[in-house]
Amino acid sequence: MKEKILRQLINSGDNIVSGVQMSAELGISRVAVWKHIKNLRDEGYDIISSSKGYRLKDPDDLLAPFCFDSKKYDIMFFPKVCSTMDTARKLAKKNARHFTVVIADEQTNGRGRLNRTWISSKGGLWFTIILRPNLPPALSFRVNFAASLCLAKTLIKKFEIDAKVKWPNDILVNGKKLAGLLSEMETKSDMISFVNIGIGLNVNNSPERYEPNAISIKNILGRKISRQDLLRAFLDELASELPGIYDKNISQGEPGIIDKWKKYTSTIGRQVSIQTSTDTSNGVAIDVDESGALILRQKNGTKKRIIYGDCFHR
Ligand code: BTN
Repeated sequence: MKEKILRQLINSGDNIVSGVQMSAELGISRVAVWKHIKNLRDEGYDIISSSKGYRLKDPDDLLAPFCFDSKKYDIMFFPKVCSTMDTARKLAKKNARHFTVVIADEQTNGRGRLNRTWISSKGGLWFTIILRPNLPPALSFRVNFAASLCLAKTLIKKFEIDAKVKWPNDILVNGKKLAGLLSEMETKSDMISFVNIGIGLNVNNSPERYEPNAISIKNILGRKISRQDLLRAFLDELASELPGIYDKNISQGEPGIIDKWKKYTSTIGRQVSIQTSTDTSNGVAIDVDESGALILRQKNGTKKRIIYGDCFHR
């Protein structure tokens, strides 16, 4: 019934659907319609009611599971969670399938890399994808690089946004942060059991209010866009890229995921500073090697290989 009501509201776009019309078409009482609408509101669906009836705010922006192809993806939408990483971890441990996508309209305890807080107010795309790649843990970095590459490609293709990847996995536009990626993995018998990729993408929100170095798609384009369309395009891009990260599919002469990623990065060639919880390294980023590590040329001419850290472009 929930899905039927949402579909009715979507089909009527910006027009109001009366309670009488809904009850007649659905074969339920007007009181029952009202109760379903109330439940949907409690689940986070933005339904506006007036004396004339009901209307969905931004129907094109809906992130309900039935808006996506259930053969390809299992979508789980929550109005508010602590962190989609925590929800996804629980689901992954309970055998959620490859390409389960956990989305939240808001996170009360969104997490960033290196234990930072990720502010996740309404309007952004906050989600975690549960993936079960057939890879040993040492190659899990390929999934992260594939995800950031696909996000940059999607933004370029759909909106002609000048998106660049910053090592290891941020998306920058004009030097400002548009998106960040966080991954968590669990292994079993020397293979990846699941790798959860969390993505925080500033879409229709205003992150510059609390982080001057952040930007949203709305800031860049000067208009709101459909998160639903964007998420679908990104998931499709990722689904078509992932088979290419398996050794058996890497044919001779075909670029690997790191080579593809390097075409979209703004880190290589830059003076950077890499911070970890224990130290800071400075130098020129000269390469990203086949295992995803950043190669830094330091002031004294020596090279340093860095496998993790927070990268600041200078
Ligand atoms: C970063 O520090 O740049 C990574 C930010 C990752 C944020 C996303 S939002 C969805 C998912 N849930 C979280 O709590 N974090 C990630």
